[in-house]
Amino acid sequence: MGLPSNFRYEFIGKVLITPDQIEKRVTELGKEITEDYQNSDRLMLIGLLRGSVMFVTDLMRRIHRPLTMDFMSVSSYAGSETSGFVRIDHDHKASIAGWDVILVDDIVDSGHTIYTVRKLLLDRSPRSLKICALLDKPVRHKRSIQIDYCGFSIPDEFVVGYGLDIDEKGRNLPYIAAVDLEKYKLEPK
Ligand code: IMP
Ligand code: MG
Repeated sequence: MGLPSNFRYEFIGKVLITPDQIEKRVTELGKEITEDYQNSDRLMLIGLLRGSVMFVTDLMRRIHRPLTMDFMSVSSYAGSETSGFVRIDHDHKASIAGWDVILVDDIVDSGHTIYTVRKLLLDRSPRSLKICALLDKPVRHKRSIQIDYCGFSIPDEFVVGYGLDIDEKGRNLPYIAAVDLEKYKLEPK
């Protein structure tokens, strides 16, 4: 996708995943989920705000099964890499009891977020619960996490675009790119 040349964030480094690659992979994931849930009439996607918003809305259009969707918003406290404390800012609205739930997030880094939210949702008696993440940084995991549907494994880089941000910037980029952290430090905040 061509972007106007005057639209750029100075801190963007290498593009790791192009819009075409994202589109292709999201279509594959949608197909896989469609097949896996052929016998389910109670499929619910729960997206974690705000990073998963582009992913979940693209993904749901490629799942050819009846489904409902909901959102949760969570935040990790600074220093969460060690403490792993995750706060629920906004809970999902609909009951998930008896539903086949897929929890959708943008990226698994330490794994604390998915670990914590998964545990919370399991206490609410879904019929099944699977994890779908667009990106995974396996070398960063601090928790053992099973990702049932994973878009891409990426190296240990801080990335933005397609919903992911750095200090709320970069979410609207149509690709996923590494942040040049040296340049980012020089950006006016
Ligand atoms: P975890 O709890 O450490 O797995 O972190 C998950 C959350 O941290 C993700 O849902 C993102 O919001 C954020 N995060 C982790 N790595 C990145 C990144 O490279 N870019 C943007 N956000 C990230
Ligand atoms: Mg997130």
